[in-house]
Amino acid sequence: MPVDRTTSTSLASMKQRGERIVCLTCYDAAFCRVLEGSGVDVLLVGDSLGMVLQGHATTVPVTLDHMVYHSQCVSRVSERALVIADMPFMSYASPERALAAAERLMGEGGAVMVKLEGAAIETVRLLTRYGAPVCAHLGLLPQSVHQLGGYRYQGKDDAGAAVIRADALALQDAGASILVLECVPAELAAALSAELLIPVIGIGAGNRCDGQVLVLHDMLGLTAGRPPRFSRNFMDTGGSVSDAIAAYVAAVRSGAFPGPEHTLF
Ligand code: KIV
Repeated sequence: MPVDRTTSTSLASMKQRGERIVCLTCYDAAFCRVLEGSGVDVLLVGDSLGMVLQGHATTVPVTLDHMVYHSQCVSRVSERALVIADMPFMSYASPERALAAAERLMGEGGAVMVKLEGAAIETVRLLTRYGAPVCAHLGLLPQSVHQLGGYRYQGKDDAGAAVIRADALALQDAGASILVLECVPAELAAALSAELLIPVIGIGAGNRCDGQVLVLHDMLGLTAGRPPRFSRNFMDTGGSVSDAIAAYVAAVRSGAFPGPEHTLF
């Protein structure tokens, strides 16, 4: 019997029922099959592929062609999860570019939602008006690393938290379906998860979000150098890749991950 597809509507229902949403990055068909087999709800074809697959120091060199190619690799075999594709650096710097990028990521790439970083309110309004569902992304914005001066937690003081809250509400109002909150204090992420109607997926944002996402290679212990402190290597207890993914799914669903040791602020 065919399995029901995860949709933005089913994710909203999960939020209402208090069921945690499980998300991981995914860049190819082999991992798509393993992740879907373990019950991951959302596959993010993240531009983190620039760092974990291509060996770059940042996500800035990733192009639209790269994102379309990896979206195709995932969506070609995906049967159940919601596939989101990142809009790469500068691909949404004007309304025309944003529409053209979404057209390629969804039309050629097969993604059913696009993700963009920052408070691009009018762009979200435009994309959703033309039928492209949007996942927003606030907090630490990796594409802006050169402007931020490094990978740092955001929203740590009252003024910074107020800006993130105002941006989140405006993005929801503009039509965003999901919000990713990266590297913000757990209290702020918990408050926004309670206030917003759309699901909030955290990464380095404590365990009171509606769901969690990690970079696949971080949680499989494949990241070169020191992995982010908010992440966990699910291979460290032994077993197979499938066992590690299943352990992540179970830990997110139960609220065991992230634990206090992965919650830095
Ligand atoms: O590109 C990516 O992997 C992401 C996650 C860090 C959320 O945007």
